[in-house]
Amino acid sequence: MDRYVVFGNPVEHSLSPRIHAQFARQTGQTMDYQRALLPIDGFANGADAFFSDGGKGANVTVPFKADAYGWVSQRSALAAAAGAVNTIVWDGRLSVGHNTDGLGLIRDLSVNMGINLTAARVLLIGAGGAARGVLRPLLDSGIASLCIANRTAARAEELCTEVGPDDLQRVKAVSMASPGEGFDVVINATSAGLAGQGALVPPACVGGSVCYDMFYGGQTPFCRWAVEAQAARVVDGLGMLVEQAAEAFHLWRGVRPDTLAVLGDLRK
Ligand code: ATR
Repeated sequence: MDRYVVFGNPVEHSLSPRIHAQFARQTGQTMDYQRALLPIDGFANGADAFFSDGGKGANVTVPFKADAYGWVSQRSALAAAAGAVNTIVWDGRLSVGHNTDGLGLIRDLSVNMGINLTAARVLLIGAGGAARGVLRPLLDSGIASLCIANRTAARAEELCTEVGPDDLQRVKAVSMASPGEGFDVVINATSAGLAGQGALVPPACVGGSVCYDMFYGGQTPFCRWAVEAQAARVVDGLGMLVEQAAEAFHLWRGVRPDTLAVLGDLRK
């Protein structure tokens, strides 16, 4: 049977095996998908062992996305833009690294939530790996402007310089204290919620906006804060998780699963 894994540390919390098992059932694919816990300094050894033993593909989660980027023999354009790999496809000879996180975010926003991103004004909070991973697909979705706010301002400024000359006009670094107002979409790409912190920017920034937390878990600290700040709609990143998995499944198996059925099941 074709074998797939998700590499991570920790990884026991990962919903990916459950998601891919449902995708496989839906589409009639015969495949096995397991969690693989690797030591923090053991990505290369773990990946070498899995693929030399006949593994067909892998997802990569925290903290190995940059290690995976260095390990693969080829990278897709989105992986190169993100500097990170979350999906590896083994073609029998070569490993190709992809990054499906940003496509997952765009699909959840535009298809599942029905938000018209064309000409949208977007505020992205955070400038770490999660923010970098979604930058290119966000710009490619046709948004009008992207403001990036980060606790460490220099990281936001640096991220803005990475977009390339064609997009420089649409992107700017803004301060967390006063990032502006009237955003159509506000996205949390920080890990502040892991420490229970939801309030990152003044509430006036999100009044009337769609607020999206790239983390999931129902009422995350950011989601709770956004509801209080009177955002028009508030959602966590569970849909992004399912959609990035569907992009990976499509790369591996060549078929598109029904993500809404899986998302509905997980939300229960
Ligand atoms: P990731 O790969 O998850 O993006 P990262 O590169 O460590 O991880 O980045 C974490 C992001 O969360 C950064 O934008 C970080 O801000 P700094 O660049 O200033 O460190 C942000 N972050 C983490 N904890 C935060 C907090 N308590 N308040 C605000 N931002 C926070």
